[in-house]
Amino acid sequence: MHMLETRFLLNGAPVSLTDVPPTRTLLDWLREDRALTGTKEGCNEGDCGACTVMVSDAAGSRALNACLLFVPQLHGKAVRTVEGLAAADGTLHPLQEAMIAHHGSQCGFCTPGVTMALACAQAQGRRDHDDVLAGNLCRCTGYAPIIRAAEAAASAPRPAWITADRKALSSPFILGEILPGGTGGAGSPPGFRPTNSDALADWYAAHPDATLIAGATDVGLWVTKQLRDPGPVAFLAGVEDLRHIETRGKVIGVGACVTIETLRRAMEDVHPSLAELLRRFASLQVREAATIGGNIANGSPIGDTPPALIALGATLHLRRGDDMRSLPLEDFFLDYGRQDRRPGEFVAAVTFPAEAPGLRCYKLSKRFDQDISAVCGGFNLTVADGRIAEARIAFGGMAGVPKRAAAVEAALTGQPWAEATLHAALPAFDEDFTPLSDMRASAGYRLRAAQNMLIRYWHDRAGASVDVLQVQP
Ligand SMILES: Cc1cc2nc3c(=O)[nH]c(=O)nc-3n(C[C@H](O)[C@H](O)[C@H](O)COP(=O)(O)OP(=O)(O)OC[C@H]3O[C@@H](n4cnc5c(N)ncnc54)[C@H](O)[C@@H]3O)c2cc1C
Ligand code: FES
Ligand code: FES
Repeated sequence: MHMLETRFLLNGAPVSLTDVPPTRTLLDWLREDRALTGTKEGCNEGDCGACTVMVSDAAGSRALNACLLFVPQLHGKAVRTVEGLAAADGTLHPLQEAMIAHHGSQCGFCTPGVTMALACAQAQGRRDHDDVLAGNLCRCTGYAPIIRAAEAAASAPRPAWITADRKALSSPFILGEILPGGTGGAGSPPGFRPTNSDALADWYAAHPDATLIAGATDVGLWVTKQLRDPGPVAFLAGVEDLRHIETRGKVIGVGACVTIETLRRAMEDVHPSLAELLRRFASLQVREAATIGGNIANGSPIGDTPPALIALGATLHLRRGDDMRSLPLEDFFLDYGRQDRRPGEFVAAVTFPAEAPGLRCYKLSKRFDQDISAVCGGFNLTVADGRIAEARIAFGGMAGVPKRAAAVEAALTGQPWAEATLHAALPAFDEDFTPLSDMRASAGYRLRAAQNMLIRYWHDRAGASVDVLQVQP
């Protein structure tokens, strides 16, 4: 069988790899095969940001965690590590200059990742430094000098050696045709890298036992933490026709391979509460990789997008070979770890209404940033003539699957839109949910928190500030 070839630019130099197993992480390859040890291994699970690298393609530059990136995912891209952030003649990147001038260079473990994260943000023109750094943990001196460095470098021009990467991506070396599949060397499972969903559908129908890898923010951990061999794999990131966000009439369609960060930006003006929820989804590095398709397909009871999407009345679109089908998103989640997905079938897209002024999404976690939900609620009540005409409410963290609150909805529908109505519906939570106690929250806390979210919804719709970052007198 052919070898799976991966071509990319590493710190400006072309690299072609054919003997790398498809699930070798960029972090291991950089440190062990290239002795580029400036990219640090902290947690090896996407939490600390010590392994942050800059990955550029036609869409721009973004910060990604090298510990959750498999080598074949880099095909056709440009990678900069901290060793390649300065120019070849030693001229420092403006962010490096600023980190020195403002004493932002703290411990040697976090500083390379912090610098790379901020250099990517500088390339994107971002000024929301706190959000950018949510995935870069410092447990020593604190962030103040780092933020001052970020502010100082924010308006500096992007260095020529960084912009040169994007131009070099149109070289024949990168654009030259290569085979979409192959093995990664002796004993390694085959990998397949389709560029459109027809090719994916044919291959997956023929290899129904294969593992699909979209952003690898879940699958990466199976490999690095659980030491699992995922067998044959297909990388979805290059499937261009699954990366669309389009509005047709009153419906928005989102392709399965749209990243959470792309979706967050697209939702800012459409469903601002959903966008705010997504701001708290993991960290920027994880959101730039993680996809909406992966967040749904993994069937997690604590995934952040399903409750909001179910509250919106989303429809899921699945494909196996040429066979396409659609179902209400809530019907996809059958039981813990079990979804309505047949062998060889993949998530193609999700559609939902473009208008839902009543939508509110609340995430409760121990830490504001970069934390998995203890309880996540999606609320969407339609009020007409002073009555609740329709109620759609769904929760994550309250059952083995993301689940609608059917009894609560029934208790609300047709009733007057009044705070007393919402209070009267609270006992119905006991009918809908029997949550578990775990390290994130006890069953009793979960139940009370979910009930409180309904009351919060009332105050939110009434115009009160319910921002968890503000303390109101
Ligand atoms: C540090 C960290 C923080 C996190 N924080 C959050 C958080 O705050 N909220 C949250 O919800 N999640 C969080 N996650 C989990 C993860 O990021 C999400 O579940 C993410 O959306 C998964 O998407 P992915 O593209 O990376 O999936 P992958 O890891 O590529 O795949 C996940 C699963 O879905 C399957 N799959 C992927 N795409 C498809 C498809 N199109 N069709 C069928 N199957 C498919 C894969 O085979 C696999 O079983 C976090 C993860 C990490 C590492
Ligand atoms: S090593 Fe911690 S995020 Fe990669
Ligand atoms: S910079 Fe490393 S712990 Fe603070």
